[in-house]
Amino acid sequence: MKLSNAALVFALVVSTTATPNKQCSGGHHTFPMTTVAGIKVVNTPLVQKARALVEANFEPYLVRHMYRSWLFGAAAVNNNATLASQIDLEVQAIGTLLHDLGWDQRPDSPWRSSDRRFEIDGAIGAAKFIRENGPKAEWDDVRLQLVWDAISLHGTPSISEYKQPNVKFIVESISMDYPGPHPALKEEDFNNIVEAFPQEGLLEGTNDTFEFLCREKPIATYDTWIEPWGVAFVDGYNPVGHRLFDRVNPNVTSTPPKKRRFHTPH
Ligand SMILES: *[C@@H]1O[C@H](CO)[C@@H](O)[C@H](O)[C@H]1NC(C)=O
Ligand SMILES: *[C@@H]1O[C@H](CO)[C@@H](O)[C@H](O)[C@H]1NC(C)=O
Ligand SMILES: *[C@@H]1O[C@H](CO)[C@@H](O)[C@H](O)[C@H]1NC(C)=O
Repeated sequence: MKLSNAALVFALVVSTTATPNKQCSGGHHTFPMTTVAGIKVVNTPLVQKARALVEANFEPYLVRHMYRSWLFGAAAVNNNATLASQIDLEVQAIGTLLHDLGWDQRPDSPWRSSDRRFEIDGAIGAAKFIRENGPKAEWDDVRLQLVWDAISLHGTPSISEYKQPNVKFIVESISMDYPGPHPALKEEDFNNIVEAFPQEGLLEGTNDTFEFLCREKPIATYDTWIEPWGVAFVDGYNPVGHRLFDRVNPNVTSTPPKKRRFHTPH
């Protein structure tokens, strides 16, 4: 799949919907704010750069996913004083807007490696972006680490759930774009966000990307949660021998082991 002109048109639409707004504090920081799709959001130069990077490099469905992840989370924070006191809005913005850098399917991608899991490609790419563009005085190791951890763990909520509130919440913001339970969002906010950034193409794009990654760099997918895409859809994909299971059971290979039977009541 390639980038189309739609990405450019989309970028223009996005920039015209942003209007300057007042300062706002979040997670003990004070940030300039703006409004996107009716949601009050952080508007630092770094966030503006992250938005421009995403809009210039990714397919429209994926740009919309990154924006919705950011905006769903921002809307939830705006409506919840507990979250507002815990969440660093700029960390949340960068962590959501850049979480899928590893999904870049272009052969010359500056982010996609040949051997690392895509979440790690994203974490490394986002950290590099922050180091190169973020003011040093504002981006200490702690904030950088929150972004790194959130992106690296964004496919594993069973772990991120027990991390720092900012890490947990970035993963929750992203998962709010997929079906399932998530933090409370006002119906009006939800409707405004999906009207400006329609969810069309997300599930197909996700499916296509995971199949691509299993085909393109299987070694980075064996024994991870995207392995099922390789098993189901990629010819010749064989995780056997690459899993922790195989190190514990080196002789259980081609033939499936006998499973313990569950007793079914008659
Ligand atoms: C606000 O957020 C906190 C922390 O995530 C959560 O425990 C609480 O249930 C939320 N409150 C409402 C009203 O959604
Ligand atoms: C996922 O991709 C596979 C392989 O291309 C395809 O057969 C399947 O229909 C796709 N599923 C969805 C939900 O797009
Ligand atoms: C696997 O098979 C080899 C060769 O038959 C044998 O020496 C080894 O003990 C087996 N390992 C296990 C864990 O069963």
